[in-house]
Amino acid sequence: MKDYKIINFEVYADNRGKLCSLSNNKEIPFEIKRIYYTWDMPHDAIRGGHAHKKLDEVMVCLSGSCDFVLDDGKEKVTVTLDKPNKGLYIKANLWRDFRNFSKDCVVVLIASELYDTEDYIRDYNEYLNLINNNE
Ligand code: TYD
Repeated sequence: MKDYKIINFEVYADNRGKLCSLSNNKEIPFEIKRIYYTWDMPHDAIRGGHAHKKLDEVMVCLSGSCDFVLDDGKEKVTVTLDKPNKGLYIKANLWRDFRNFSKDCVVVLIASELYDTEDYIRDYNEYLNLINNNE
């Protein structure tokens, strides 16, 4: 499956702890317009459940772990995020949800666009029609 990539961020570690630094068009492969984050997810919750028309995103699990399920209409790939230096880059037009949250899970999502409800595809059949017509 194309349209996603794991990015391993450089870790600056010393006896005071660890640090990662994320910059526009460098570790994050686009210009950052928005950052949002989620926490306190019940283990059995499912977030996401949509695709985007234009927005690219990098997700990082800063604490705990969760699974991202990616679906391009042909196959599904599950990516586990379980460390703060592992990013998941998802381009627009890829259906995703995230689930299987550990108790201490905190996810930060770094986006290439401002929040725009018009950019969402929330209906899975509409998503399938869209990608099949674009091929
Ligand atoms: P939702 O899209 O359901 O989140 P997720 O993709 O993680 O399942 O968003 C939950 C609520 O938060 C919804 O009322 C819209 C609001 N929201 C914003 O106002 N700004 C944002 O940047 C985001 C991502 C959500």
